[in-house]
Amino acid sequence: MQAKKMHNDKGTFMRLDKFLADMGAGSRSDLKSAIRKKRVTVNGEIVRDSSMAVTENDTVTLDGVTVLYETMQYFLMNKPAGVITATEDKRMETVLDLLPLPHRTDLFPVGRLDRDTEGLLLITNDGDLNHRLLSPKHHVDKTYFAKIDGEVTPDDVQKFASGIYIDDDEGPAFKALPADLKILSAGNGVSEIEVTLQEGKYHEVKRLFKAVGKRVTYLRRISMGPLRLDETLASGECRKLSPGEIEALQNVQ
Ligand code: URA
Repeated sequence: MQAKKMHNDKGTFMRLDKFLADMGAGSRSDLKSAIRKKRVTVNGEIVRDSSMAVTENDTVTLDGVTVLYETMQYFLMNKPAGVITATEDKRMETVLDLLPLPHRTDLFPVGRLDRDTEGLLLITNDGDLNHRLLSPKHHVDKTYFAKIDGEVTPDDVQKFASGIYIDDDEGPAFKALPADLKILSAGNGVSEIEVTLQEGKYHEVKRLFKAVGKRVTYLRRISMGPLRLDETLASGECRKLSPGEIEALQNVQ
């Protein structure tokens, strides 16, 4: 029987070991062994058959802890500096290593922050949303706070607003879309700014400032479309998005 292809009004059937494995509760073989050892219940009954057909609406526990089946998961992370925006890496810690377990095994970060950049990072398995947020067609605003080596001037603000032509050794030359630059403070050779970009080209914030002769010394993303960095999240922490935040993201056109 192809359990995973069957639906009824209760949901989509899948094997019990797959239900648990999808949610990151362990490897298929560890889970089969856990099920044999009576560590798993379905709707309050101990189950010993890994191939039992369950749906996302069944109540499944492993070692007494309920494992919710979520088809889509959305996490908001306050990315720390020093970890890379990737799903796995042999040597370096990735943002997925920071997620609390269990979580779905098919999650990925939406877009990329540099290793030394901090702040808002969305992690999900929603491929359609990923496409809408990153597609150049949609121009989803991303706002960054930055510290700059150099005094940012009203002339820079004008240049950013007109769209700076970037021609450096980091990639093909391009004309950046207009960016909204706000000077928060400038003096004694340093500045603090907020900048909102409509696109996400490689190292774009750093390259824009380099193009006007200045250097970014600290970078933190504070918003992406309707999503804002949650200031209650410590560096490296994450939380699930609220239903309202998910809805706001789904409405991004
Ligand atoms: N722009 C950058 O230069 N770096 C980032 O991480 C994000 C935007």
